[in-house]
Amino acid sequence: MAITIVGVSGSLRRESLNTRLLKAARERMPENTELILESIADIPLYNFDDEAESGVPPRVAELKAAFASADGVLICSPEYNNAMPGVLKNAIDWMSRPAADIPAVFGGRPLGLLGATPGGYGTVLAQNAWLPVMRALGVSLWNGGRLMAPRAGGLFDQQGRLTDEAMDSRLRNFLNGFVDFVRESH
Ligand code: FNR
Repeated sequence: MAITIVGVSGSLRRESLNTRLLKAARERMPENTELILESIADIPLYNFDDEAESGVPPRVAELKAAFASADGVLICSPEYNNAMPGVLKNAIDWMSRPAADIPAVFGGRPLGLLGATPGGYGTVLAQNAWLPVMRALGVSLWNGGRLMAPRAGGLFDQQGRLTDEAMDSRLRNFLNGFVDFVRESH
């Protein structure tokens, strides 16, 4: 069975290490599996008044639809001040509106976490910070593996391609394990 995974990077930066890692993942997906990258660049700041007056913005509705039709989701989260970046939390918060849509968008959906940082701890605290959020949304979090990429500035060449052999192997293992989990969830 063909599997479609949606991937979201939590960084808006042009040279983002997290976006690079997700692009590397896209090139290394197991057979019969596609990783579609979605951007959070055009998501406005959440404001209840805006929601009440106009509903969810079109880009939020598109992202919700992309999640709702995906077999699984990969979130590649930077770490800011030992937690997740506000832009990514904001996007997820918007996608959880209206709350009645949460089961269709997130409920039971297989989700894997990964992240890259120039620092030494590989976004472990950001990944932990996501846990209560994922629980609140009712996703099916893959706990069989998680990928942390410390000192990630040295993993890519000048064109942004993953060149580090150890990370290449870890990323492939992570993706194989996650896709197995997605297949078992069906
Ligand atoms: C950071 N950074 C960071 N790194 C880390 O490993 N732990 C942390 O707690 C923080 N805190 C932090 C706060 C703020 C406000 C910024 C802007 C940055 C560094 C961060 O990992 C680095 O900027 C990455 O390059 C961000 O990811 P992208 O943009 O490369 O994907």
